[in-house]
Amino acid sequence: MPKTEKPVEDLTEQEAVAELERLAAEIAKHDRLYHDEDQPVISDAEYDALRRRNLAIEQRFPELVREDSPTFRVGAPVSGKFEKVRHKIPMLSLDNAFSDQDVVDFVGRIRRYLKLSPDAPIAMTAEPKIDGLSLSLRYEEGRLVSAATRGDGQVGENVTANARAVADIPNVLAGDFPRVLEVRGEVYMTHADFLALNKRQEAEGKQTYVNPRNTAAGSLRQLDPSITRARPLKFFAYAWGEVSEMPADTQMGMVAALASYGFRTNPLMKRFEDAEGLLAHYHDIEEERATLGYDIDGVVYKVDDLALQERLGFVSRSPRWAIAHKFPAEKAMTILKGIDIQIGRTGALTPVARLEPVTVGGVVVTNATLHNAEEIERLGVMIGDTVIVQRAGDVIPQILGMIEDRRPTDAKPFEFPMVCPCELKTPIVREGTAAGAEGVVRRCSGEFACPFQRIEHLRHFVSRRAFDIEGLGEKQIEFFFHDPDLPVKSPADIFTLAQRDGANLKKLRDKEGWGAISAANLFAAIEARRTIPLDRMIYGLGIRHVGERTAVTLARAYGSWQAFHDAALAIANGDLNAREEMDALEDIGDAVIDAIARYFGEDHNRALVEALAAQVNVQDAERPAGDSPVSGKTIVFTGALERMSRDEAKAMAERLGAKVAGSVSSKTDLIVAGPGAGSKLKKAQELGIEIIDEDAWFARIGG
Ligand code: IVH
Repeated sequence: MPKTEKPVEDLTEQEAVAELERLAAEIAKHDRLYHDEDQPVISDAEYDALRRRNLAIEQRFPELVREDSPTFRVGAPVSGKFEKVRHKIPMLSLDNAFSDQDVVDFVGRIRRYLKLSPDAPIAMTAEPKIDGLSLSLRYEEGRLVSAATRGDGQVGENVTANARAVADIPNVLAGDFPRVLEVRGEVYMTHADFLALNKRQEAEGKQTYVNPRNTAAGSLRQLDPSITRARPLKFFAYAWGEVSEMPADTQMGMVAALASYGFRTNPLMKRFEDAEGLLAHYHDIEEERATLGYDIDGVVYKVDDLALQERLGFVSRSPRWAIAHKFPAEKAMTILKGIDIQIGRTGALTPVARLEPVTVGGVVVTNATLHNAEEIERLGVMIGDTVIVQRAGDVIPQILGMIEDRRPTDAKPFEFPMVCPCELKTPIVREGTAAGAEGVVRRCSGEFACPFQRIEHLRHFVSRRAFDIEGLGEKQIEFFFHDPDLPVKSPADIFTLAQRDGANLKKLRDKEGWGAISAANLFAAIEARRTIPLDRMIYGLGIRHVGERTAVTLARAYGSWQAFHDAALAIANGDLNAREEMDALEDIGDAVIDAIARYFGEDHNRALVEALAAQVNVQDAERPAGDSPVSGKTIVFTGALERMSRDEAKAMAERLGAKVAGSVSSKTDLIVAGPGAGSKLKKAQELGIEIIDEDAWFARIGG
């Protein structure tokens, strides 16, 4: 770009022709660098300046507008790279275990759920957790017809052309394959290939890559499959989605079948009968880790018997029958440069350590949590100290301790603030514990008057597991919160942004860091989330104690936004029946109910919720089996059950579209009573409710 550009109003027609040609080529180049190569070389502001100049010239010389004018490409589809694909069967994530005890507990939970005795053998597999990116490959009649990335688990990106360029992925299956087969596994890059690629990049004066995982991800998401082909990607198959005829009834058997169709499967996968076996294998793999030649970040355990997997089912987005046992965190030493105070969504003050950047396990760490004032005291750290940081998986890095010998003479102690660092300077309060002592959590008492808390609420609202709005991250939320022209102070404001900006997006696109494309993309991404599943809506409100799992439970139980909202308002107004009904839900107790009551008891929150509900369409919760013999019924299980555990019974009934309650009332439709049933059975008899035993239950649901 020339340093000094001639003002548009001074251009001659001839100069304008040349300028428009130059700008068209230049903008097209940056579009390619940005969208196709993930390697922009100019800032958004510089890019926007190019576009603005192009537009200004076109406005002055309308007859000179080129056919390939960048103006016509304004408002390209969201992240327009790949087509989206909805996974027929969602791609799930795994729960994590961090210690041997977590694994013992996991196996114990499974045994209890399946009603097995505590020492009954239960066959489980153990295999490395590959640190790559997961891919779902669909074969029809033995031919690869599509390949999709995991995306958010429900919708991924169509990368079929690139998958065909991966040598480990067969285009045509071998052996006796099912008619429809979705194979899932991990795309990764070996250490050797990663190093060689970086060497080549360096020799060609190109940018080098950070780690094999990101490189594999970047390589698979290339618009040009020949680039993917030039990057040596590998693939391990370890799971499946839709399968027309199951070739085996165990995890081991299925993986062997995948191998027989021509996939590479991990040679370290083994089968064990108890937690001890799994743990021994884990420690073996841990020892071998450095010599494998590819990155792994733990060991995955899965129940081998597929019928048992089916019985165990899922909790929220992860299976109950599998867990990832992560390798321990890596540690490093660095300097504590300062301590900042962060205000969370609930007003809790968290001290955050600002560190001299240091790499821990391949990632640069600059911040670590210090939890609370007591933790700072316990660690005995002062600003300027040399500290040990640890990082485990995706969790925020932690400080383990300090090295006394290295304390500089000018090290400074940290003083915890007495007022909120926001402009309101609200006093900090300490909550009492149940025992009446002072708690460790310090909170800003400003609640929704405190701008920090409001921003945190909004950040939570747009976070990945809530509304998940592409292009509206923490930074942008902060930007809009403070923006005088397009302010976003509450969730509903997000959905009125485009309307407030007007048809030509003029306000946003002229702002620093924004342009016509990014503004159009943002508004498209917001539109895409105007329809939202009920559980995400509930979770997005950020009610204390209502995490993702609780939100799913509430969504399933109430089914619709209207029903949940009515119940929440009723509870806030002291309706004991509504309270009892919510209390009957699994895993929901007083803490959650009180938090919901408090939230909906607050005028400000009610107004916020109403404004939001007016903007969005909340989808009813999925009731997978709307036509089952028990769908829509309220069921109470009581007494001892012999063929299934209480949890399993509940999950089964819910899968069939029933609601499971903990107490009998006039709203109960059916009682499943086992031996030893007492007062609930009696009450049901009094109320004339239908009562059946466990065998009759299975007969009814056809099991
Ligand atoms: S099984 C229903 N097995 O880990 C469970 N996942 O946190 C399906 N992963 O998205 C996953 N190695 O990308 C499974 N041997 C392995 C794995 C593995 C890596 C990844 C996968 C998944 C994530 C879950």
